[in-house]
Amino acid sequence: MKKSEKKSQASWGGRFSEAPSDLMLRFSESVSFDKLLARFDIQGSTAHAKMLAKVGIITKSECSQIVKGLANILKKIEAGDFQWSESLEDVHMNIEQALTKDVPAAAKLHTARSRNDQVATDMRLFFKYACSEVVAKLEKLLVTLVELADQNKDIFIPGYTHLQRAQPVSVAHHILAWVEMFARDIERFKFAYDASNVSPLGSGAIAGSTLPIDRLETATLMGFVDEQTGEPIVTGNSMDAVADRDLFLEFAFACATVGIHLSRVSEDVIIWNTSEFAFVALPDAFTTGSSLMPQKKNPDAFELMRGKSARLIGNLSNLFALVKGLPLTYNRDLQEDKPPIFDSFAQVSICLDVLTQCAKKMKFVKEKCDIAVSDPLLLATDLADYFVMQGVPFRKAHHCVGEIVALAEKTKTPINELADKDIFAICDKADKNWRKVFDLKRAFAMREKIGMPGANQIKSQIKAWKEIIG
Ligand code: ARG
Repeated sequence: MKKSEKKSQASWGGRFSEAPSDLMLRFSESVSFDKLLARFDIQGSTAHAKMLAKVGIITKSECSQIVKGLANILKKIEAGDFQWSESLEDVHMNIEQALTKDVPAAAKLHTARSRNDQVATDMRLFFKYACSEVVAKLEKLLVTLVELADQNKDIFIPGYTHLQRAQPVSVAHHILAWVEMFARDIERFKFAYDASNVSPLGSGAIAGSTLPIDRLETATLMGFVDEQTGEPIVTGNSMDAVADRDLFLEFAFACATVGIHLSRVSEDVIIWNTSEFAFVALPDAFTTGSSLMPQKKNPDAFELMRGKSARLIGNLSNLFALVKGLPLTYNRDLQEDKPPIFDSFAQVSICLDVLTQCAKKMKFVKEKCDIAVSDPLLLATDLADYFVMQGVPFRKAHHCVGEIVALAEKTKTPINELADKDIFAICDKADKNWRKVFDLKRAFAMREKIGMPGANQIKSQIKAWKEIIG
């Protein structure tokens, strides 16, 4: 039989006189990546079959054969024994066809369902799973970072703005800033989780079904329920339900934001790890050597996290571009929504594991930090504040200290070693106690308001975080 005479065997092949070309099959298949949805697809089909039985569209015995068959297929898939076929297009048809071979009643499974609401359902189940996984990883990271902060409460470093020495902070204060960033990420994934918790099943291809299906039943069976009340939650418009890809954007945005946080943290660590700074030593297990220069120990784990953040941002823009301008409702373009999502999930997951492991073994080098933080210029602002307390308006105090800094630079004298008379000449309200501001203990003791790096603040922040993350 010539190819053109071969009738299409695809599940939608009834109106076709010719099978799709091999090139078209290769071009249009998605099973190579959407097979990752298998267990969610099976979960959705199981619920759908049970509902069909409940409303009397299939018999109880047909239902139990289908449900058993689906469970067997899942076992096979998990054991790696399932034969995936590109010519069956996607995960949905691969599973349905395999099931129908074992269970003839499965020919009724697709009643009142389209792949459009099926894939929307699978992805919502996937997002609920993926959000929980990422939240768990973020929580592990937070535990590790809070511990790292706790261990480094008594090491002080310059804080930087414009990558110029600004004011002293403790290593703990800096790490707790990272904790805040990742804690916000947890909220973003929890939001995405809640937004995913709505069942689109029953929306059909675009306009639902004439058959007497029960959408609340499938929603309940799949766990799309209000966690407080147990009430099922379903989408309110069948067209939106199959066209909507907001969750994809939400999830990719949450991943890209984690990526940016990972990248900024990595940049901090990379700078601190240079020979010029040497504030931190990285674990051998997460650094690599040079094939040429024997002395090198490179912070590749952190550079890769910085690099992978580009990929996460790319996945988000990919999805924005994909969805923009698509007419309602489902268009096959939307099949391209999965690779960037699966990639973002995989990359965020491994990056969070890597940072958690690295943070467990990062060692701060107190001697180097002490040298850097002993720069008295870090306390120039404290001197201006001191003048303010003597009654000098802040603008003037700022100007006076600017002059004092200029004099220190010009005479190559550390600012705290300038002569009293030079200070009095610049600021007439200054008294001979001006030098006492150049004391780190004082600097931190004066910063005991909420959110500041004073030692007691840091202790209570660490305690609060420990309570939050258990
Ligand atoms: N593989 C398809 C996707 O991921 C499933 C939906 C197909 N729907 C259709 N009308 N061809 O988007």
